[in-house]
Amino acid sequence: LTLYVPRDSAALAVGADAVADALHAAALAHGAALQLVRNGSRGLLWLETLVEVATPQGRVAYGPVAPDDVPALWPALVAEADGTPSAHPLRQGVTDQIPYLALQERLTFRRVGITDPLSLDDYAAHGGWAGLQAAVGMDSAAILHEVTHSGLRGRGGAAFPAGIKWKTVAHAVATPGATKYVVCNADEGDSGTFADRMLMEGDPYLLIEGMAIAALAVGATEGYVYIRSEYPHAVATLTEAVARATAAGWIGDDVCRSGRAFHLHVRMGAGSYVCGEETAMLESLEGKRGIVRAKPPLPALEGLFGQPTVINNVLTFAAVPTILAQGGAFYRNYGVGRSHGTLPFQLAGNIRRGGLVEKAFGLTLRELLYGFGGGTASGRPVKAVQVGGPLGTYVPESQWDVPLDYEAYAAIGAVVGHGGLVVHDDTADMAGLARYAMEFCALESCGKCTPCRIGSTRGVEVIDRITLNRHQPVVRDQQVTLLRDLCETMVGGSLCAMGGMTPFPVLSALNHYPADFGL
Ligand code: NAI
Repeated sequence: LTLYVPRDSAALAVGADAVADALHAAALAHGAALQLVRNGSRGLLWLETLVEVATPQGRVAYGPVAPDDVPALWPALVAEADGTPSAHPLRQGVTDQIPYLALQERLTFRRVGITDPLSLDDYAAHGGWAGLQAAVGMDSAAILHEVTHSGLRGRGGAAFPAGIKWKTVAHAVATPGATKYVVCNADEGDSGTFADRMLMEGDPYLLIEGMAIAALAVGATEGYVYIRSEYPHAVATLTEAVARATAAGWIGDDVCRSGRAFHLHVRMGAGSYVCGEETAMLESLEGKRGIVRAKPPLPALEGLFGQPTVINNVLTFAAVPTILAQGGAFYRNYGVGRSHGTLPFQLAGNIRRGGLVEKAFGLTLRELLYGFGGGTASGRPVKAVQVGGPLGTYVPESQWDVPLDYEAYAAIGAVVGHGGLVVHDDTADMAGLARYAMEFCALESCGKCTPCRIGSTRGVEVIDRITLNRHQPVVRDQQVTLLRDLCETMVGGSLCAMGGMTPFPVLSALNHYPADFGL
């Protein structure tokens, strides 16, 4: 009997370890030989803990399973393994045929939830290392060409073309005796996002492979993954994966027998949101306080320890092996306009079926909210969706049919960002959420620039004066003008996106939901 119980944090949070223990106990009690694989999550988070059983028809899913369900579930699992479908109420059918999964276009997440994340054999058996093996047979220019041609853009949120960034680093020269670096930003701080974590916990070798390809492309010999401290399971899994991949010769002194070195290190952040900003992250990696650096110089030219550095998000690196294995044109064919490839969207907040949905760019928010998400968990109407993290705009229903593509979203003043969606129902107080955005910025600002450090605190005060004076039109309108003025200063004058984008949620709340401000 082969069963799968995820080891992903989202499953552990709802008791996956206890479910696994209960299954072991049941096997012992029944004298059954059990092979229990601790896989990554399939990303159907409302069904966690999702227990899968290997059957002649493929893997069949049961969920959400609690430890107390196991005694009654056991006979169903045994029958299922022999090819007899059960009538158990938690049965979800053949996993791959569950519409939420079947309707996705999984490139980056195609192995997540399927393999044992730390098994090198599993990784290789499911197409792993094909991208790196192709890359070692190519010169730098050929790798850069594939990545550029694929149209891959930075998945951390800014959507800068990865190929151009890599080319800049490849052509830059390190100080004699120093090396170039490849740094992965895994400080996934956006509210409602979890794709980086799921990937690192569910398919860590994919990230390692992507970073090794980047190192070959730009001529770097050292790499770092900067993971937030709130992700202890991702840190543990990735650290172990780096050790195993190094021992097996995929990275280390002789990358894939190429004669070239790439040493990878895992570092942990300490809970600061702004350390996800690339230059603050570099400061933190260098052992200093996480404060934003002024740009220029760009990290591509003067990054970690002053050397040329590729910095990309987890999902950007994780897209690269597919591009090298299948070709840039293959990846480019997904998506719309200038948004090529797929994005793993993350459905969170007040949503019935929260989870990870990887789709090509071009689908709409409405399809994600209702087709996949099934509306709100509360059953009330959706009022607003914050797309792209705490610095993203609140998108009202009138814009839910705009295709999710970087340019179409920019045209409505919104951002796709890292693909996180936080859903609110009609009980949400948008003035309160606007205030929260300013408060968040005040708490998380690194303090280096004035518009962000002071502006956010003044922003909280001004929003308070608007809501306190909602029945005094003269004072209220004067404060609204002040808020708009303040937002303009923050957008134009902040050193980084922290202060520069905080006005996005604030102004979108004000513009789309004026009644909540008493207007
Ligand atoms: P940016 O647009 O300033 O830069 C994007 C990237 O391109 C950077 O790595 C930058 O160094 C590089 N770059 C820019 N011009 C270049 C050139 N000519 N040559 C080579 N490289 C170049 O954006 P930034 O400030 O890095 O990121 C802002 C974004 O971060 C926002 O759009 C937001 O969506 C996202 N974000 C993501 C979070 C997350 O948890 N994933 C959290 C907060 C914000």
